[in-house]
Amino acid sequence: MNDKAKVMTSLQTETTPELEIYICGACRPQNASPDNPERPGKDLAQNLKDALISQSLNERFRVRMMQCMSVCSRAATVSLVSPGKFTFTVGDLDPKTATEDIITFAKLYASSEDGIPAWKDRPVSFQKGVVARTPSFGATHQRITELN
Ligand code: FES
Repeated sequence: MNDKAKVMTSLQTETTPELEIYICGACRPQNASPDNPERPGKDLAQNLKDALISQSLNERFRVRMMQCMSVCSRAATVSLVSPGKFTFTVGDLDPKTATEDIITFAKLYASSEDGIPAWKDRPVSFQKGVVARTPSFGATHQRITELN
């Protein structure tokens, strides 16, 4: 089997998740000095992955760590991504307590049609910490206006 065939086989047997959760693993704690070696997003990512496994959600929701999402002043930062839905980016999360809020929001996000869960249903940290919601390529939505 050549390398291309091996890659195809590996892709075909991999479970496709409903969404991906990106966590910045490079952010320093808020108000930390530039030489602070702490990177709390790494712990948050691992804690989230462990929690998803323990709740049997790890095949639906995949956690990935990213090195900087350009939201450095609002750590911890998380983005939820799913095909055909708005990408939802949230900052100001407390890495020590954010795990369950992320899972709660991920369930709402997954069940929403467009990736914009109702504001009133979101955990408080996902009401206050929104950085951006960004449409996917070619999206059509009532919030998007085509220009002539
Ligand atoms: S270092 Fe985390 S968003 Fe830039």
